[in-house]
Amino acid sequence: MPFRDPAFIAIVRCPRCQAVGSLAPAREPTCERCGLTLAVGNGFLDLLDLAAGEPTAPTAEQRFMESELVARLYERVWRPTFVRVMAGRGAGAGIGGPAGELFVHRHSLGMDERPGPWLDLSCGPGLFTRAMAAAAPGAVVVGLDISRAMLEAAAARATGYANVTLVRGDAHSLPFADGVFGGINNAGALHAYDDPEQVFREIHRTLRPGGVYVGSTFAEAPTVFGRLAARAAGIRRFDPPELRAWLSRVGFHEFEELRLGGAFVFRARRP
Ligand SMILES: C[S@@+](CC[C@H](N)C(=O)[O-])C[C@H]1O[C@@H](n2cnc3c(N)ncnc32)[C@H](O)[C@@H]1O
Repeated sequence: MPFRDPAFIAIVRCPRCQAVGSLAPAREPTCERCGLTLAVGNGFLDLLDLAAGEPTAPTAEQRFMESELVARLYERVWRPTFVRVMAGRGAGAGIGGPAGELFVHRHSLGMDERPGPWLDLSCGPGLFTRAMAAAAPGAVVVGLDISRAMLEAAAARATGYANVTLVRGDAHSLPFADGVFGGINNAGALHAYDDPEQVFREIHRTLRPGGVYVGSTFAEAPTVFGRLAARAAGIRRFDPPELRAWLSRVGFHEFEELRLGGAFVFRARRP
């Protein structure tokens, strides 16, 4: 994994002293400003400042996301089943097909129209990261997640993608400089955050002016079973008009959305 890539180092912000571009590449990269040494996991760089200890998983779903077994089965079994239960038919079906989620996200990011770097925020095992890396082979594509197990699974699958860098971090406090990304992808993770508004602020801060934010999340479940499952798992759902107002308060504009069953993909732009 290219932790030494100068184009990647230039956008990293030290999670402790917030210095930008201060990472000295080494076996364990160190911040030249404050001396923080960052751990290297199995295929990813740990950009969490662990001075205050390991983060604790806030929800039952997140505890599953930390499991190696779930990470391994995520793309083939967990994700399609979860999406089907939460969003009904039409959401997760044919993900890689012509009208599937991967196509809609990639197209909405406009990867042909603008330069990177690109961030796949809460990348899980890297389904979207790999699609983004293939669409922009000359650009830095960063996959960030808080789960070690997910990042290890992502690293194992991204071996053929030289432009992918995987990092561990928290979406509430992104370890990147201001205004660096051409676009940020954020599939199926809003419901997992403690404070989505803080995540929106961080996405807005790290996007370049004109950069796009593309996300997907669950709207109201189309079936009684889906509604009960969401309630039992404590999973938050988002109403598109509410999300539009929320993102506009944070400073985004040009909100658009596309329904896929009980889920929706949205795009907003940093002015
Ligand atoms: C449902 S998965 C979605 C994975 C991937 N984007 C996809 O659509 O296949 C949600 C992901 O969000 C990650 N996550 C949860 N809380 C996070 C946080 N605070 N910061 C970064 N990632 C987080 C989880 O570890 C998990 O991998």
